[in-house]
Amino acid sequence: MSRDVVYLDHQATTPVDQRVLDAMLPFLAHNHANPSSPHQLGRLAAEALRAARGQIQASLSARHDTEIVFTSGATEANHLAIVGAATGSRRFYADHIITTAIEHKSVLAACDQLAAAGYSFTTVPVDRAGRVDPADIADAITPRTVLVSVMYANNEVGTVQPIADIAAVTRHRGVLLHVCRPTHHLRPQDLRSKGNRRPLHPPRHAPASPIHGQPGTRHAGGHR
Ligand SMILES: Cc1ncc(COP(=O)(O)O)c(C=O)c1O
Repeated sequence: MSRDVVYLDHQATTPVDQRVLDAMLPFLAHNHANPSSPHQLGRLAAEALRAARGQIQASLSARHDTEIVFTSGATEANHLAIVGAATGSRRFYADHIITTAIEHKSVLAACDQLAAAGYSFTTVPVDRAGRVDPADIADAITPRTVLVSVMYANNEVGTVQPIADIAAVTRHRGVLLHVCRPTHHLRPQDLRSKGNRRPLHPPRHAPASPIHGQPGTRHAGGHR
């Protein structure tokens, strides 16, 4: 980008951090081996991937590195979390999903796909500032609810949702919570009830999503 341009849209995406670029360049330019390959270059790539996953696990306070899933973007991460959680729970007669009136199109598209397959939905309203009332989430939960999906910070108006309070509700009721788009002012310890923050300055198309399997704390979404 030209030096005359001041890029201010960091809520939409961030530039690649120079340190990220420096760490990645050897793999982009020289060792571009497939980390699943058994030869020496493949093993080197696999080791670098393991190290990167461990660093992300530590910075997000994830329990295991297997909770860190790399996807091509937030759309894929949202789809994986929502459709995955819903289809995994249907055999337990849980087929109701709660979302809000201000979710991103990628969340709504995943919900539409599930609706076509017979799932039911409740769309919780927001107030004039675009904020969800955790009490409305609590009211919407039924014995068939499998998942609540709420974005952390709205990508258009920037409203930040009371995620800790919403997570307290879903944890108490034993319902999974999917959070898209947390931002940098979350504390690492908060990430046990949140996920997906943009300002990690990674390369495009390599967001990392923590996914926890326990009710109330399933997180997914691209960290970009
Ligand atoms: C909340 C939210 N979810 C998903 C996306 C889609 O992200 P991606 O382009 O990485 O698929 C965006 C993009 O801005 C977003 O704001």
